[in-house]
Amino acid sequence: MRPAWADIHLGALRHNLEVIRARAGSKRVLAILKANAYGHGLTRIAQELGDVDAIGVARVDEALQLRNAGVTRPIVLLEGFFDAKQIPVLAVSHIQPVLHTKHQVGQLLSIQDLPEPMRVWLKVDTGMHRLGLNPEDAERVYKTLEAAPQVAARPVLMSHFACADEPQHGQNQRQIALFESIKATLPDVTTSFANSAALFAGLAPDDDWVRPGLALYGISPFAQETGRDLDLRAVMNLQASIISVRKIRAGESVGYGAAWTASKDTWIGIVAIGYGDGYPRLAPNGTPVWINGKVYPIVGRVAMDMVTVDLGDTMSAKLGDTAQLWGPDLPVEQVAEKVGTIPYELLCNVARRVNLDYLET
Ligand SMILES: Cc1ncc(COP(=O)(O)O)c(C=O)c1O
Repeated sequence: MRPAWADIHLGALRHNLEVIRARAGSKRVLAILKANAYGHGLTRIAQELGDVDAIGVARVDEALQLRNAGVTRPIVLLEGFFDAKQIPVLAVSHIQPVLHTKHQVGQLLSIQDLPEPMRVWLKVDTGMHRLGLNPEDAERVYKTLEAAPQVAARPVLMSHFACADEPQHGQNQRQIALFESIKATLPDVTTSFANSAALFAGLAPDDDWVRPGLALYGISPFAQETGRDLDLRAVMNLQASIISVRKIRAGESVGYGAAWTASKDTWIGIVAIGYGDGYPRLAPNGTPVWINGKVYPIVGRVAMDMVTVDLGDTMSAKLGDTAQLWGPDLPVEQVAEKVGTIPYELLCNVARRVNLDYLET
């Protein structure tokens, strides 16, 4: 028996990259591996994606971890540097920061003795109103960077969709129109706009670079579909053993707060995973768990190291059987919907104590 572990299917990852490449055509792929590769293990996933055009992470530490592990691909730092002291380190490590404020641009341009010029990306805000320069500043700042001795090549102009997971949302076309108007001031500029949702919805056909994250891991960005509908395969299979099976009688309750009471005699399986492993504590009664080919409901509160599952009136699973919390047989999209969150959060929250077993399939 084992406490929680996750099989990571590298074959599925490679398959998903092929599906993405087929969608992307001649566009380059910036694979998004932030937050420990969405919980799948940063270094191993980066090594496995040896032929992507670049890797995107959010933190300097993540980028340096990859360099220290011998990853030589271009790395893009999606939130740029947080401190000017980091800039020379990025330059010598060939890590390309996204510049999203005039403040960052000023910090870069004020360095006179940069060890070597660096490649940068320039982010404009076309409607997300989170990171990015105001559109009216984009042309001037871009041209300043283009001419700056600190900058090695023409910056890539990028933006980010707020609503690409709802392709018909009016916000998408407003953002595209604004991005196009900025592009028109910068002849032959190289651009990047599409995340997984925009790529699969065909929202940014003129992109030079696509930036898929979720789809790489086999998950659909769209609410009504799972990865399978998009020919993607789940990379993570989160599992744990059943470490106890017990019969309870009608009227008896299960777990902390006696929060669930059996309406009839039933068998309860105790599965060795809990919120200490990143399984969501707020998973309500009825959240699905897959055991031996069937889906059973969680009952009672999720604890730190355990969840309890109603196996029904026959003892349909036994001590030592494996439960799948999400994976190839139980889409994480379905679990997320039941829990009232998104697959991204469930994947990223998988805790360090959950062993990741890499499989070639
Ligand atoms: C700037 C940027 N690009 C691309 C992505 C990848 O998005 P997704 O995982 O939806 O494909 C993210 C993730 O949040 C992001 O922040």
